[in-house]
Formats: sequence, structure tokens, C-alpha cells
Amino acid sequence: MLAAPIHPLDTKGRPIILIGLMGCGKTTVGKALSKRTGMPLLDTDAIIEEQIGCPIPQIFAEKGEAHFRALETALLRYLLQNPTPNPSIISTGGGIVVRPENRRLLRMLGFTVWLNVSINALLVRTARSVNRPLLQNTDRRAVFERLDAERRPFYQESAHLWLEASTMDVNTVAVRVCEEAEKFFAAF
Ligand code: S3P
Repeated sequence: MLAAPIHPLDTKGRPIILIGLMGCGKTTVGKALSKRTGMPLLDTDAIIEEQIGCPIPQIFAEKGEAHFRALETALLRYLLQNPTPNPSIISTGGGIVVRPENRRLLRMLGFTVWLNVSINALLVRTARSVNRPLLQNTDRRAVFERLDAERRPFYQESAHLWLEASTMDVNTVAVRVCEEAEKFFAAF
């Protein structure tokens, strides 16, 4: 079978960053973007887990959410100060926008895209999730309603592009992101 063609993107050495609530498709879209552009995919949650040597639910349970948020800030600062030789697609944890400093860092780091997805779609997509501490033993709809109300302005502040992605299929989202990234970086 022939490999899918790669559509390289000149991002001037900067990453494309995906933000949005849990289940909005950051990882899935990140994979599609990575395949399309040939850019490697990084995941802030996975990097933190590897650095600390334990899974996120354990970090939350043992050190608390505030500690996890501080790790996210440290990672964003590091990525800004140490650009990788190959620009990447970066998928982030849904709460990375909660800290004001992170919102500023996200805008400076590269082209940041908010995947805006309806609560109904988020509930379907996270129905089988067992590794998200904020969704354990709780009324998931109420959690999503609260997080959506709290974080919507933060995603809007952090992102260069707001994409309504509730019904769009993953490849359409990836193509749209590439088109908009091309325009953004052309003016960089
Ligand atoms: C969180 C989202 C998770 C992970 C952690 C906290 C949040 O990432 O960072 O469980 O606060 O919304 P995903 O958005 O990839 O599920």
C-alpha cells in the first residue's frame, strides 16, 4: 500500500498547538496533522508522566491539581526556551489554559488552535475514559458544564484559531488547521 502523501508546512520552526476540553479530539486531530505534515506529535500529558515517572491520576492524588498545573507551566516555559529542531504538533491537557501565564505562553509558542466541541459530543467521546481524574465518580455532564463555562474564555484568549469541531470529521479538521496555519505563518 502507498503511504499517504505528506503536505509539508513551513511553520518557521514553530509548533502547532491543540487546546480544548477533555475529549475534544486533540490527540486524534494531532495524529492526523502529524501524518499530513510529517511533523512529530508531542503530548504535554505524556511528557509530564514520563518526567515524573507516574500516571496523571497518581500525580493528582498524591500532589494535587495545583502541582500538576505548575508542571504544565514549567513544560511550556521549557518548550518556548528550547525550540526543537523539527517543529512539532503539540496536544495539550484540557486544563492547560487555567493559569494566566500558560495562556500567554500558548500564544507565544506557535499557532494555537481551540477545538470547540459540544458537551453532548464530549460526553460520548469520553464515555469509556477511566484515566481522567476530573471525570471519576461524578456527574460527567455537570463537570463538563462547569469546565466549559469556566474555560471557554480562556481557550478563546489562548487560541489564534477557534474551530467548531463537534461534527467535522478528523481529516477535515486537519486540512482546515493546515490552511489556517499556512496563512498565520506566512505573516510571521
Ligand atoms: C485535564 C485534562 C486531561 C489531563 C488531566 C486534567 C483537565 O487531559 O491533563 O486529567 O483539567 O481538563 P486531556 O484533555 O487530554 O484529557
